[in-house]
Amino acid sequence: MKTIIYAHRGASKHAPENTLPAFELAYESGADGIETDVQLTKDGIPILFHDETVRRTTNGTGFIQDYTFEQLQKLDAGAWFSKHYANTRIMSLEQFLLWTTNKNLILNLELKTNIISYKHIEQIVYDLLVKYDQLGHTVISSFNPDSLLNMHQIDATVTTAFLTSKKKVDLINYTKRLGAKGIHIKNRLMNQSLINKAKQEDIYVATYTVNRVSQMMRCYHTGCHAIFTDLPYIAIETRELFEQDIIQ
Ligand code: G3P
Ligand code: MG
Repeated sequence: MKTIIYAHRGASKHAPENTLPAFELAYESGADGIETDVQLTKDGIPILFHDETVRRTTNGTGFIQDYTFEQLQKLDAGAWFSKHYANTRIMSLEQFLLWTTNKNLILNLELKTNIISYKHIEQIVYDLLVKYDQLGHTVISSFNPDSLLNMHQIDATVTTAFLTSKKKVDLINYTKRLGAKGIHIKNRLMNQSLINKAKQEDIYVATYTVNRVSQMMRCYHTGCHAIFTDLPYIAIETRELFEQDIIQ
């Protein structure tokens, strides 16, 4: 089994996270998939953005939920990263789905609903996935279990994964009860025993954020289902060497 490599927020080590340049780099590097974070604007448009406020990764201030999409388009989401990326814009989910069409990428849409519970975000995201016929190769994940349950209420066949950065007793059964197919877990909590036990219950384990070669190798060795990395090209190179038995 080949470990799937997701570019975390795109190739976010070398281009501004969750923007088109980071997604393009990820695609060019041969990543199997892209992970991105989804939130809603004031006018209910799903956009790709990690923090609840725009301060860290744009030249603006305030909460995403207080901006309309049009207002957000005036912000620079690239200059904070480097001059080279000045004038990069925040991307909507719809723009992203158009860009991914026919690219054979697996999509992981992380619904950022653990701090702000964006009303109807699950339905809005679902409708777009149906519109662009991308449901079949998309995984919906969230730290907020309610988002996964809401998604299953809409359509029980949607592939979902429970995201966690904390140790949790009975994690596998909890995940099953949510109707999720996978656990996306912080790398320091990923171990062989969890992977084996989860496999027996038909649950996969993926892990974030894996940026060091030694961590990548550990993931390939343990038979981890997928990794999320800011450095997809390194992960792909390392996976090739692992497959050819060149490095252990
Ligand atoms: O989906 C994996 C990972 O992205 C979760 O954490 O904070 O990087 O969105 P974060
Ligand atoms: Mg994320």
